[in-house]
Amino acid sequence: MNGQSMDNQKQKNNGEDCPICFQNVSFIINSNQIINNISVRIDRKGITGIIGPSGSGKSTFLRLLNRLISATTGRISLDEKSYDTIPVRELRKRIGLVQQRPYLFAKTVEDNLTYGPRIWGVSLSKKDLIELLDKVALPHEFLDRDVENLSGGEQQRVSVARSLANNPDILLLDEPTSALDIVSEEILENTIRNLSQEGIKIIIVTHSLEQTKRLTDQLLFLKDGKFIEKTSTKEFFHKYNEKEIRGFFKKKESR
Ligand SMILES: Nc1ncnc2c1ncn2[C@@H]1O[C@H](COP(=O)(O)OP(=O)(O)OP(=O)(O)O)[C@@H](O)[C@H]1O
Ligand SMILES: [Mg+2]
Repeated sequence: MNGQSMDNQKQKNNGEDCPICFQNVSFIINSNQIINNISVRIDRKGITGIIGPSGSGKSTFLRLLNRLISATTGRISLDEKSYDTIPVRELRKRIGLVQQRPYLFAKTVEDNLTYGPRIWGVSLSKKDLIELLDKVALPHEFLDRDVENLSGGEQQRVSVARSLANNPDILLLDEPTSALDIVSEEILENTIRNLSQEGIKIIIVTHSLEQTKRLTDQLLFLKDGKFIEKTSTKEFFHKYNEKEIRGFFKKKESR
C-alpha cells in the first residue's frame, strides 16, 4: 500500500472508529465552564447511558449533540463529518432529542406527531400514527387529545413518539421515564430496546442505576462537565461496588 492510500485507509478507519465524536469540546456560558474539554467516542450501535450528579452537564451534553447549542471550542463530528458542515435541519432530523421537560405544541397529539415529517414533505398516514402510539404504549384514541390535558408521563411518551416520527438515526433521551409508573416505564424500555435492535443508536441520560443495568451496553459517567468513566455497563458494575459508585456522585471534599 502506498503512503497516500495508507492515509486514506487510516482516515476511513478513524471514521468507522469514531462514529459520534467529541474532540476537546467545551461549552462555556457566563464564564462558567459547563462542559470541560471533553474528548469521547460513542459507538454507533447499541444503547449508551449517561449518568452523573445533578448539574454535571448531562442535558447540556445532549443539547450539544442535537446542536440546540454550539460548542464554545472543539469539534463534534458524526461519521467523520464535522457538525459545521452538516445543515442544522438535517442534523436535527437525523439526531432526535427528547428533552428532560416535554416540549410540545399546545395542540393535539396528531398535530405534534405530523409537524416534523411535514417539514420534510412527508405526510404520515393514520396507520403510521397508530404505529407510533403503539411504540410508546399510548391508546390510539389519544391522537385527538389536546397535549395540554395529558399527564406528565403521557406527555413524555408523546415526546418520544414525536421524535420517532422523524425516523432518526440517533435518538437522544433525557430521563424519558422519570415521570412514568413502573409498568409504563417497562413498556418504554422495551420500545427503546426494540429501536436499538432496529439499528437506531440510543443515548439515554438517566438517574437510575437500575435502568442503566437493564438497558445500556456502554456507560459514560459525567462529573463537573468531564467524563470520569467510560466503559461497558457490565464492566462498570463489575469494577465498582455500590459504595464506590455512590462516591462518584459526591462533591469533591474541600480541604
Ligand atoms: N444556558 C445556561 N445558562 C447558565 N447556566 C446553565 C445553562 N445551561 C446549563 N447551565 C448550568 O450548567 C450546569 C449543567 O446543567 P445540565 O442541565 O446540563 O445538568 P444535568 O447534568 O442535566 O443535571 P440534572 O441531572 O439535574 O438534569 C448546571 O449547573 C446548570 O445550571
Ligand atoms: Mg438534565
